[in-house]
Amino acid sequence: MKEVMKERDKDGKQWLMKENVKCIIYDLYAAGYRTTRAAILSMIHILAKRPELQRELQKEMDTVIGSEREPRLSDRGDCPRIESFILETLRYISHLPLFVFHAASQSTSIGGYDIEKDTVIVANSWTMHHSEKYWDEPFSFKAERFLDSNGQLFPATHPIRKRLLVFGLGKRSCIGEVFAKSRTFLFLSTLLQTTTIVEPEGITLPEFDPRAMVPGIVIQPQPFEVRFVVRSKRIS
Ligand code: HEM
Repeated sequence: MKEVMKERDKDGKQWLMKENVKCIIYDLYAAGYRTTRAAILSMIHILAKRPELQRELQKEMDTVIGSEREPRLSDRGDCPRIESFILETLRYISHLPLFVFHAASQSTSIGGYDIEKDTVIVANSWTMHHSEKYWDEPFSFKAERFLDSNGQLFPATHPIRKRLLVFGLGKRSCIGEVFAKSRTFLFLSTLLQTTTIVEPEGITLPEFDPRAMVPGIVIQPQPFEVRFVVRSKRIS
């Protein structure tokens, strides 16, 4: 791969080779699609199991946006409950449990450990986000975890927000973070506005447990069924 990237034509220009294109498609699939899929499906499962929480989020949605217009990105600041629910889902599932492997480009030290150049570094996101040292009852889903006592979202500088590192940190952190968060908000708020998610008739869904997710680089929720009951005239 490195060899291909270094190739230049007679004018000194670099071109995308077949291998580059294959990698870009794979990146978009794994990094863009699988991550968003896992997050949204997890939210749907969690909401189907928690009608009261869903009603609270719908109430916020109805008050801020109503049923006559589509949700906008500018509504995010007025929807702290929905935002906190999204952040808590991302923490709870930590669906890129080992991030992306990196290698040290030069010798350094991390937390008192000497790291030689080229050492492979694997950050354990799962442990970071489920450690009892940093999170109160990490395996309980607390939709209000990122809200203050007035129901407002903690600012990004708040220690609890700063502990949430599901998109990584630094130069090689997720380039899709803003895109992922904004699309998830639009998708979820539209869903809350237009439907109520309920368990299928005659079937009890198991509780959503991130420890039971399907293993992989990006772990995925187990397959499940739900019903979407129409609630808004926008799609009736
Ligand atoms: C909930 C959704 C997402 C989560 C939790 C997530 C998380 C992550 C994480 C943890 C990394 C590795 C950071 C590191 O190793 O330090 C990463 C890298 C990356 N993500 Fe995302 N991601 C999400 C959505 C997206 C989307 C929607 C896109 C593109 C449209 C995207 C594109 C990428 C790319 C290209 C990288 C590699 C960046 C690099 O190596 O420089 N991600 N993501």
